[in-house]
Amino acid sequence: GPLRVLVFGAALRAGSVNARLASLVARLVSDTGATADLAGMREFTMPLFDGDVEAAEGLPEGALALRDRLERCDAFVISSPEYNASVPGVLKNAIDWVSRVRPQPFKTKHALLVSASPSMVGGNRGLWALRIPLEHLGTRVYPDMFSLAEAYQSFTEDGRLANDRLQQRLAETVTGFLSLVEADVRYVCLQRR
Ligand code: FNR
Repeated sequence: GPLRVLVFGAALRAGSVNARLASLVARLVSDTGATADLAGMREFTMPLFDGDVEAAEGLPEGALALRDRLERCDAFVISSPEYNASVPGVLKNAIDWVSRVRPQPFKTKHALLVSASPSMVGGNRGLWALRIPLEHLGTRVYPDMFSLAEAYQSFTEDGRLANDRLQQRLAETVTGFLSLVEADVRYVCLQRR
């Protein structure tokens, strides 16, 4: 069947530009014939990690829901803001909870990282920081990343990027990522036969 790609906006707020970027990436994923599963952090609210809560109750519902969505995909895309040059605590907390499940769902999955920010650097430092926990968990983080600067002014009414060159660059990043995933998924299938 077609590749299934979870596209995940990592900010909680309703008007998130990272949610808008995630929607656009999901549309680009669908354009290639793959199946996009669009998700947002608001669907996965969870308490702060606490080893006592984990020991008494196991994983909270929000973390289990995110785990389920990850397990159903071949690859995932995270669109995350940058907070103080790093990963937002909400996203890191979600990764920490989900990393406690076995089999550990981040392991061997391919991921593409994108960001949007009103600043001039577009949240790119946050993505470099996000590579660290994901690569630690065995995720194959795509070498290329996409960061959208001045994000509050960058979208057209119909949710594309107003700058055609940037729109093209994002589309190429997504297709490059998906062709790598496709090749790898096919290779793994051949090995299993
Ligand atoms: C920010 N913001 C921010 N932006 C940036 O480019 N570099 C940074 O280091 C920070 N630091 C930072 C810290 C905190 C605590 C907040 C709340 C915000 C701005 C941030 O990038 C902006 O709020 C998000 O891009 C908005 O994303 P959403 O919520 O629209 O997806």
